[in-house]
Amino acid sequence: MISEKIATLINEQITKEQYAAQYYLSMSAWFSARDLDGIANYFRVQSKEELMHADKMFDYLNDVGSEIIIGQIDQPPHVFADAKDVFEKALEHEKIVTQSIFNILKNANEEGDFATVSFLQWFVNEQVEEEASASQLVTKIKMVCDNPSAMYLFDQELSQRVFDPNAV
Ligand code: FEO
Repeated sequence: MISEKIATLINEQITKEQYAAQYYLSMSAWFSARDLDGIANYFRVQSKEELMHADKMFDYLNDVGSEIIIGQIDQPPHVFADAKDVFEKALEHEKIVTQSIFNILKNANEEGDFATVSFLQWFVNEQVEEEASASQLVTKIKMVCDNPSAMYLFDQELSQRVFDPNAV
């Protein structure tokens, strides 16, 4: 139902989503090591969401009868300059993921692969939300990073994030 080229791009995207999960888990570990457990929770939840994104693509390839080939996941960075650096890198990474999804969409459009175009619409919307929230957190971390009391409250705020498997 879908071309080999599109199946390859989606297989690669599965690995990219899994890499994103590892990257966010690494960010979570960085905050855990500094006793900022609320922020660590935020990235832990984000990591789980990325795995769900990969699962969604896995299921799609199954549904359209394409071969699923699990790729190798590179080790993510674990050294960050400071808290602001982590949030900036998270935003940067979301932008890379967005471009990667747009690239699959562009190819699917060119092939007239309307099933994949429709399937990817969910991811396009998700990326808009993810970039918006990552960007907002960069703004917030810049406001609070030099103020321990504000940082404490920011950490509390991010401790509220709960993983919702139905949201992805
Ligand atoms: Fe699966 Fe954060 O993009």
